[in-house]
Amino acid sequence: MVTGGSRGIGAAVVRALLDAGAEVFTTARSATGTVPEGVAFVQADVRTRAGAEAIAAAAQETLGGVDVLVHNAGGAGPYPGASAIPDEVWQDALELNFLASVRLDALLTPGMRERRSGAIVHVSSAAVLTPMGQFLHYTAAKAALENYSRGLASELAPSGIRVNTVSPGRTATPGGEATREQWAALAAAPGEVNADDTAPLGRDGRPDDIADAVLFLVSERASWLTGRNLIVDGGEFPMG
Ligand SMILES: NC(=O)c1ccc[n+]([C@@H]2O[C@H](COP(=O)([O-])OP(=O)(O)OC[C@H]3O[C@@H](n4cnc5c(N)ncnc54)[C@H](OP(=O)(O)O)[C@@H]3O)[C@@H](O)[C@H]2O)c1
Repeated sequence: MVTGGSRGIGAAVVRALLDAGAEVFTTARSATGTVPEGVAFVQADVRTRAGAEAIAAAAQETLGGVDVLVHNAGGAGPYPGASAIPDEVWQDALELNFLASVRLDALLTPGMRERRSGAIVHVSSAAVLTPMGQFLHYTAAKAALENYSRGLASELAPSGIRVNTVSPGRTATPGGEATREQWAALAAAPGEVNADDTAPLGRDGRPDDIADAVLFLVSERASWLTGRNLIVDGGEFPMG
């Protein structure tokens, strides 16, 4: 089960899971013809409790139970600075980047507990390592997600469920590009928007770079890994 699987990183995760032989279910707000054939899809908004309940019910019905849960839907646009971020934008960023995962985990982990197995990945952002005023609503929500993910990992480890975070750096996706265009329009100083040659590895991430990390973390190869945050950023951000 992958949230936000209709484009960008989520679509790459859907493909990677499908290639690995999984039965895959995904969700987005827009009706889509873009998910690969054979992938179940429900149109829902992860920011609301009603959306989370609809997704959980459809996933249970289609798959019979969820073994792998990837919380990928997320993002937020920039503001001129922290004090310019309206209350409703803070609320929206928290719903999408943090509370959506909390709700869906609560709905889908009881089945994992019963089966005494499962793997959860929360997609955060390497930007948490260097928070900036323009994106504080986003990075603060993702920081909350990372802290929650670690705590959930401790709680669920005795039930055989692993919980990890993947934190992408700048990755070429429709959402990422749109955000960077808005940021460039706001940026006071040239060069403030990180460019594609700032990562030591000299390029932007590709959605498949992130999907590979997710696939590893939900696979048996990562069976002794839980409560960790895998930063996939071409070496760009300082280690946190
Ligand atoms: N790209 C980057 O540079 C980058 C860097 C660091 C972290 N990330 C994180 O990686 C994740 C994926 O980012 P991306 O760049 O691939 O994003 P993207 O290109 O904007 O794709 C987002 C996906 O999530 C869905 N989605 C968005 N809001 C939703 C909602 N409220 N309910 C259900 N589905 C929703 C979108 O479909 P609909 O719009 O139709 O709902 C789409 O399928 C996010 O958590 C983001 O914060 C990205």
